[in-house]
Amino acid sequence: MNETIEMMCTRHAIRRFQTRQIDEAALEQILRAGLYAPSAGNNQYSRIVVCQDREINDRLGRINRWMMFKGKDPQAVAHAVSAEQPSIQDDFTLMSGYYNAPTVLTIFTKNHKYAREDAAMIAENILLAAHFLGLSACYVGRTDEVFATEYGHEMRKKWGVPDDMAAVCNVLLGYRDGPEPHGKPRREGRILRV
Ligand SMILES: Cc1cc2nc3c(=O)[nH]c(=O)nc-3n(C[C@H](O)[C@H](O)[C@H](O)COP(=O)(O)O)c2cc1C
Repeated sequence: MNETIEMMCTRHAIRRFQTRQIDEAALEQILRAGLYAPSAGNNQYSRIVVCQDREINDRLGRINRWMMFKGKDPQAVAHAVSAEQPSIQDDFTLMSGYYNAPTVLTIFTKNHKYAREDAAMIAENILLAAHFLGLSACYVGRTDEVFATEYGHEMRKKWGVPDDMAAVCNVLLGYRDGPEPHGKPRREGRILRV
């Protein structure tokens, strides 16, 4: 197997992070990988906001968790995601949907037909680049709902995100705390050779 492809197959969503901040040179490479993701018609509309302010990340992460359950009993809403790297759906004592990651990226794109695809392309490049460099990452959703709140609007304004941009997704970055997970086997029958 090609080494790069082998690396792609050993990337895992990581939710248990060390408290130390990530290396700046690594972050720059990861962001560069994000910028080189494809975009529909080469629009390059997206903006990647890098937030390393723990207080802001904690508050946004708590809002993110709220958006998952919205006051409902988590037991009734949640489904199992990962035993080795528990998500807020596995461990109801986790209070932040950002899992205390030291760096939180928010990917914004101009609202257009391919906005979500453009953002997801960036996110995947970032997830892989982080893994290649020995860092850990996790894709997080509900970002549109988080940034539709009053506090979300306040942060958008503070960060200078243009009004015509939609918040599509988050990527959490940090160093893994604890052992590497075994990874989740991929289901059979998902490729149809025709
Ligand atoms: C569109 C999308 C949304 C996701 N949202 C979340 C999320 O909100 N919170 C979270 O902890 N993980 C989230 N994940 C990560 C998935 O749970 C994870 O990729 C999946 O369980 C497979 O595990 P693996 O990435 O380790 O292979 C999301 C992944 C994708 C692609």
